[in-house]
Amino acid sequence: MSKVSLPASNAFCPQCLFMYGTYKEDKTPNYGLFCWATYCYDESFKFVACIGEDKITRDRIRATGIFSASVVSKSLLPYADFFGNNSGYEIDKSKIIESVSGAVLDVPVPRDGVWSFELEVDKTLRLDADGKSEIYICHIKNVLADERLADDSLSFEERLKIADPIVTMSQKYFSVDKNPNGEWGKWKSL
Ligand SMILES: Cc1cc2nc3c(=O)[nH]c(=O)nc-3n(C[C@H](O)[C@H](O)[C@H](O)COP(=O)(O)O)c2cc1C
Repeated sequence: MSKVSLPASNAFCPQCLFMYGTYKEDKTPNYGLFCWATYCYDESFKFVACIGEDKITRDRIRATGIFSASVVSKSLLPYADFFGNNSGYEIDKSKIIESVSGAVLDVPVPRDGVWSFELEVDKTLRLDADGKSEIYICHIKNVLADERLADDSLSFEERLKIADPIVTMSQKYFSVDKNPNGEWGKWKSL
């Protein structure tokens, strides 16, 4: 295989998409679309989010220390794309989807979201001298899920069809294949 060296990019590295929900000062909900997110273990299982530069989602996370992160399922994708391409500084996004409040934290959660983390910021890593970008390591205080995703009578693959998560690569949105390629540690031989 011949290899080439390329500039920094994550083109072939799929990323899960989340809508982060915060309440604005006037108590109405705001959502943005985010993919620089992952998990870490830091005394417990935690959520890690990077916000780059000025945006209302960052301002509200700073002000309140809490937010929601909801998996973007295919049915939510048109709204999620809108939230990701329209600044909350410029337009009111509060009435585009219906929201409910978190079960544990006072954070807005999309009514039709299937898997929403209720997050409390534990640690903040300031990234640049101007104080614009930061990484949040967050306690997962609750997972608010569609009850069908907790139904053990359904196989994981059947529940995955219900969740229908969208990932992003190279400025495009993709569905995930619902058929597994195998299970962790179960390959019998190479
Ligand atoms: C696919 C996609 C992924 C994005 N991921 C991030 C991200 O991880 N971090 C970030 O700071 N902005 C990200 N953005 C940009 C924000 O969604 C965008 O700035 C949005 O306006 C933020 O909402 P707000 O202005 O209401 O806070 C992403 C946008 C898109 C379209």
